[in-house]
Amino acid sequence: MNRASVLLTRLIPDAGIAMLENAGLAVSLNPHARQLFPDELRRAVSRHDAVICQLADRIDETVLQAARSRCRVFANSAVGYDNIDIAAAARLGIAVTNTPDVLTEATADLAWAALLATARRLGEGERLVRAGAWRGWGMLDFLGVDVFGQTLGIVGAGRIGAAVVRRATGFNMRILYYDSGPRPGVEALGGRQASLDELVSSSDFISLHTPLLPATRNLIDARAFRRMKRTAVLINTARGPVVDHEALVHALRNGLIAGAGLDVYNDEPRVPRDLLALENVVLLPHIGSATATTRSRMAEIAAQNVIAVLRGERPPCPVTP
Ligand code: GLV
Repeated sequence: MNRASVLLTRLIPDAGIAMLENAGLAVSLNPHARQLFPDELRRAVSRHDAVICQLADRIDETVLQAARSRCRVFANSAVGYDNIDIAAAARLGIAVTNTPDVLTEATADLAWAALLATARRLGEGERLVRAGAWRGWGMLDFLGVDVFGQTLGIVGAGRIGAAVVRRATGFNMRILYYDSGPRPGVEALGGRQASLDELVSSSDFISLHTPLLPATRNLIDARAFRRMKRTAVLINTARGPVVDHEALVHALRNGLIAGAGLDVYNDEPRVPRDLLALENVVLLPHIGSATATTRSRMAEIAAQNVIAVLRGERPPCPVTP
């Protein structure tokens, strides 16, 4: 009898591949050093029993329809799954899984790194030094904003938001959070729930940790930027579309806020030119979970999800019921 087969839309760390092979599965990898084009993806998924996909793979209804006669699970190697049409998957009886928890601390570290880098203008400083243009210490040069003792606003105080709050306690920060319900874990660390209006107008740093949902698309819009402090710093390690791009560029250009640290964009990997042209923004290539250990753990969880579904068991991290 043929072995069940798993498609990897891109390479994953060895630990995940070893688990799949040890479970007796045949593993096939997208042979191109790039993402599959939509028609290639549709063809590939129709020939496998399971797919380990990534954020950049758009798993829309056409892909799920192509997969449905054979494929039983799409295991996303990410905590977010806005790249997958979950409703269509549920309708077609295809399981979808994700990789939460193992990436919480690494992503919070990256959010914190972006916050410090933006507050203290590390990108600008680094560019100056590398260009050989640094002319020596200057009392008025590279003045940033303080982090210690300031107010941090967390939008979406789930696992990653709460992990950022834990870091902020070491910086003696006042914590506000905006979420659909109370978060006792964050309140135990001194956080106070606030309306979005209060949070954006009172915070020195605003860090986004909400999933991308219809309700969070463009959550940070022109009105929110108008209410922010002129010294505020916005950090987005969640999803690009949570912020209204035009409003962000307007705010950065016109000094409505001091700066932004971005790890995510609307149409990755395209980073709009208007952002590239600005000095007061730190631009990162979606690396929230990018540590060797975290990515290996993510690959293992994705593999465990696939193995469980193919055995007819409940996967450890289901997204669809
Ligand atoms: C990364 O953005 C993830 O959702 O894991």
